[in-house]
Amino acid sequence: MTQEPAAAPTTGSRLIYGCMGLGGSWEDGAYGAAEVRVAEAAVEAALDAGITRFDHADIYRRGSAETVFGEVLRRAPGLRERILVQGKVGIRLAEPGVIAHYDLSAASIRERVLESLERLGIERLDVLLLHRPDPLLEPAEVAEAVAGLQAEGLVGDVGASNMSAAQLAELQDALATPLVADQMEMSLARHGFADSAVLVNHPEGAIVDFPHGTLEHCRRHGIELQAWGSLAGGRYSGGAVATGDTAGAETAALVSRLAEERGVAREAVVLGWLMRHPAAITPVIGTTDPGRIRACADAEQVAASMTRSEWYELYLAARGRPVP
Ligand SMILES: NC(=O)c1ccc[n+]([C@@H]2O[C@H](COP(=O)([O-])OP(=O)(O)OC[C@H]3O[C@@H](n4cnc5c(N)ncnc54)[C@H](OP(=O)(O)O)[C@@H]3O)[C@@H](O)[C@H]2O)c1
Repeated sequence: MTQEPAAAPTTGSRLIYGCMGLGGSWEDGAYGAAEVRVAEAAVEAALDAGITRFDHADIYRRGSAETVFGEVLRRAPGLRERILVQGKVGIRLAEPGVIAHYDLSAASIRERVLESLERLGIERLDVLLLHRPDPLLEPAEVAEAVAGLQAEGLVGDVGASNMSAAQLAELQDALATPLVADQMEMSLARHGFADSAVLVNHPEGAIVDFPHGTLEHCRRHGIELQAWGSLAGGRYSGGAVATGDTAGAETAALVSRLAEERGVAREAVVLGWLMRHPAAITPVIGTTDPGRIRACADAEQVAASMTRSEWYELYLAARGRPVP
């Protein structure tokens, strides 16, 4: 089955703002006025950067990422209509008497979506992602739950996260709606998506940390590859590089040089490297720093001007060894 790419914004930046850093404590979700101010400033910076898609999950800060975002929406009339809200369900955090586990049962999907909508104060999730593969999931059950939510107008498009090509295909066979996205960890630090193409028929290919064939499956079926962890936690753009991480230090130096040559921030080079890939990878950025968020806006321009040799220089520096 071949589909048109879906869920891509028609205007503005291709970037998605990731809301995992918003809200309060991961322990109990507690937050205050300061967290709402941080969220307001982050959303404002994202809008300035042309970003119109916001990525959430029910578990972020035990729900308070969604709650503070809902507060931001309430304070900015008209904002909801200008943006797309993406949510995720499927992970259960540990709580007294419950171990951490995954749950993509129909009842859990429905309950968690309703709770997210309540916290966000909105009527529908524009995109719902299934957060992680649940070994106990039944594709037909997921399909029924999703179809019900779509029929009620509570969910728009549906996608996945951290799923391989085989898992996407199995789900798609049961779903009546096309999967529009797969959110995977992809960055200069997690470059397995590139290794998986390069290391076919090579012993090192056995330890690639990205499922073989997934990038190709997504391209063939118009499934948007969203990259979480796309800034690599800041390690190449001013954040700390671990002692002894020679490849990390060399990559950070190269990122700095390319940024200086172009007169852009280092974040734009780190993201531009991902966006230069022909699979139209969409970075999800998780920084809460308004300056860093705005700096990401130049990523597309960097991608457009990045030469093949610059792309490989960055890839090989981050790999820390040449390709075979
Ligand atoms: N699907 C999934 O399983 C999954 C998993 C994780 C995340 N996500 C999504 O993807 C988004 C992005 O992922 P992420 O937040 O893990 O990764 P990220 O965007 O690579 O990293 C963001 C983190 O790096 C820090 N950082 C960035 N630049 C820095 C610098 N120069 N110096 C110091 N620290 C710096 C940020 O701190 P500051 O805020 O201080 O800048 C923030 O803590 C999340 O918000 C979430 O929406 C999805």
